[in-house]
Amino acid sequence: MTASELTGAEPTGSTLTGTGHAVAVAHPNIALIKYWGKRDERLVLPFTDSLSLTLDVFPTTTSVRLAPAAEADAVVMDGVPARDERLRRVTAFLDLVRDRAGRRERAVVDTRNTVPVGAGLASSASGFAALALAAADAYGLPTEPRALSRLARRGSGSAARSVFGGFVVWHAGPVDAPDPDVASYAEPVGDARLDAALVAVVLEAGPKSVSSREAMRRTVATSPRYPEWVAASRAELVRMRQALRVGDLDTVGGIAERNALGMHATMEAASPPVRYLTDASATALDTVRALRAEGVGAWATMDAGPNVKVLCAAADAERVAARMRAATHARVVVARGGPGATLRAEAG
Ligand code: DP6
Repeated sequence: MTASELTGAEPTGSTLTGTGHAVAVAHPNIALIKYWGKRDERLVLPFTDSLSLTLDVFPTTTSVRLAPAAEADAVVMDGVPARDERLRRVTAFLDLVRDRAGRRERAVVDTRNTVPVGAGLASSASGFAALALAAADAYGLPTEPRALSRLARRGSGSAARSVFGGFVVWHAGPVDAPDPDVASYAEPVGDARLDAALVAVVLEAGPKSVSSREAMRRTVATSPRYPEWVAASRAELVRMRQALRVGDLDTVGGIAERNALGMHATMEAASPPVRYLTDASATALDTVRALRAEGVGAWATMDAGPNVKVLCAAADAERVAARMRAATHARVVVARGGPGATLRAEAG
């Protein structure tokens, strides 16, 4: 151990600009055009652009405090010390931040989720968006949103989108970009004109058996259906952006449901197959279709878990929620468009 590690003194040549302690809040996002598959695992570069809505529910609050005397990062998640893969991912992310900031101090990280972890309700998106902002501020990296989006992406791809509020597009970036890391970031869909709600049907809150990271890796490597989903997804994104611009919920919803079902079909065809959807998911999907047959605009989307999120007009949200509750007996939460990641003032 060096003296600087013992004392927490700065290594020569670095600048002491970070605040040393920051608290950040970020919300999950639900993709209407999914991110599924990386073309570069280390840089977390996707094959396709994706498009999401950041929610106004289930925030994650994360504190990062530099601990100059500590020899290792200490990470507490929802009051429980993180271990194994979870600890490794946070430490690897902090190593990236430290490397960029030219600093060496370890950190104490305390993170509180209000969404069940690992249940396909995007806790890694809110988690890494909040961690990226708090760590960038504490260690003295730029917190400008586009830079932050690139940084959050390295923790978890979908976190790139939770840096921003409302409808957000994450650009995969051109494959021949001179610096692919710089070319892949999220930004708000500035011209979206849609007053939508997402009704979350929480069918299972437990951790999933196969992580989305592993499932997408397996899909890319083995699913014969993956290339066709990638091609469809690229065309769908263009059409969805047009539909958002003119407030055409029917088109947005139809594309979102097809894109999600297509993603689940790619993993069913992987080897070995991955299936996140359960009988309860099928019941929820049938209910969404029944609503449509009755003339209520409602469309389903599902991530790496059995839970179903229903896109509908904000004005229909309570009616849709009541039907989903009655059909599934599950916890149902109505979400609207929510804010991007923010720093909390009280850190110091
Ligand atoms: C199904 O962002 O959790 O929710 O980059 O490996 O951490 P990693 O994956 P993650 O995957 C999210 C996949 C998804 C679709 C989406 O949010 O776009």
